[in-house]
Amino acid sequence: MPAPSLDSLVSLCKRRGFIFPGSEIYGGLANTWDYGPLGAELKNRVKSLWWETFIHKRPDMVGLDASILMNPKVWVASGHVSSFSDPLVDCKKCRQRFRGDKLLEPKIGVEAAAILKLDQVHKMLTAEKIACPNCGARDWTEAKKFNLMFKTHQGVVEDEAAMVYLRPETAQGIFVNFKSIVDTMRMRLPFGVGQIGKAFRNEITPGNFTFRTREFEQMEIEYFFDPERTEWKKLFEEWKKMSWSFMTDKIGIDAKNLRLRDHEKDELSHYSKGTTDIEYQFPFGWGELAAAVAYRTDFDLMQHEKVSGQDLNYTDPDDPGRKFIPHVMEPSYGTDRIVLAALLDAYTEEKLENGETRVVMKLKPEIAPIDVAILPLSKKENLISKAQELYKKVVQETNLVVDFDITGSIGKRYRRQDEIGTPKCITVDFGTIGEDEKQGVKDTVTIRDRNSLKQERVSIHELIQKLRP
Ligand code: GAP
Repeated sequence: MPAPSLDSLVSLCKRRGFIFPGSEIYGGLANTWDYGPLGAELKNRVKSLWWETFIHKRPDMVGLDASILMNPKVWVASGHVSSFSDPLVDCKKCRQRFRGDKLLEPKIGVEAAAILKLDQVHKMLTAEKIACPNCGARDWTEAKKFNLMFKTHQGVVEDEAAMVYLRPETAQGIFVNFKSIVDTMRMRLPFGVGQIGKAFRNEITPGNFTFRTREFEQMEIEYFFDPERTEWKKLFEEWKKMSWSFMTDKIGIDAKNLRLRDHEKDELSHYSKGTTDIEYQFPFGWGELAAAVAYRTDFDLMQHEKVSGQDLNYTDPDDPGRKFIPHVMEPSYGTDRIVLAALLDAYTEEKLENGETRVVMKLKPEIAPIDVAILPLSKKENLISKAQELYKKVVQETNLVVDFDITGSIGKRYRRQDEIGTPKCITVDFGTIGEDEKQGVKDTVTIRDRNSLKQERVSIHELIQKLRP
């Protein structure tokens, strides 16, 4: 059962060190969030799984790490300067600003709101009697285009010439490096370039925890192909399946809480000939988790060739006379949204036999922040030193992330490890150190399984083998 509400997850994330409100000691900064020690581990694991799945395990893919700051002409060429905007409306009474389409979504639905033309937004707000969420008035301005790109200045002079944008997507870093990658990496079509990194959008209405923020992380692939040799519809379907399988098989999100949604023609981004999103059933409704795939055609490379004046043609190695601009499929995932969905999906409340409720994060072990916790039963010195010895052994002989926890009763520690999703706990007791046979044979420990709560007694000798995934 996914988390009953976003609030219960927000509270667990703060309480247990997954995600904290940003700049909290200064009263915060609206809609910014910091990943705490456990959140950072979880997010890193999601990124590593993605990199391993799509870059390391595929001969046709390479990685990239491009700059956040790019020549502003990049964003002219990509169409972001002219087209990357949302419909902004002001409440005439309280002067608060909102995204017109988002105000309409609960009334007319996500699809219908997404395809509204700018001049239709005000009419619809009036027709649907949409009230200002802040003051309740129903008096809206006409909608204006609000460009979402953050601007800043490079260097010491703050004039127009020094103006740069913070990238609103990582994708363009891949397009501008296309030629260098072809020239240096012996890549033959079809091939892909993947990149993980921060992106920034000055969202009009951020919110719903980390779902919509102004600074976020993307994991994007541009998969280049020859449209004469590869049928785009087939490739499109293949990427849909691969994206779906990443969410379900790798991240472990229950397929029941996911759906694919094709974009309506009018809803497509300026560069896309077809886009299918993967949506997750968040507590606030279905929301985009990732673009499973978008068919960007040759739009971006063509544009960059035109604006930069550089030749970005690919030479067909089998027919060197044939030069052309490849087409591209783009699966684009939001790391923060995947982390949020994984946490919501893992959140489970279980009634125990003794009547108590246990909250357990049933995260897939591959993304759980801690692999194993070592828990000495008491603070007695020889028990602690045996447990420390074991901690060193597990850390040295495996790649596992190990927690050593001596704070509070054993029951409290189990509860804490359940709430942070640790798949296995190892208890070192008086049996382990040969002081109480009733607890177990000397040099054996108990392994407790997070999901089944089953306890197994194993010898320290075979422990490492048992812990390895
Ligand atoms: N290069 C294509 C592109 O950027 P997008 O659908 O605008 O496509 C891709 O963004 C993914 O980035 C989304 O599916 C979402 O997961 C994530 N994303 C976009 N805006 C976001 C925001 N404001 N906060 C958090 N994640 C966001």
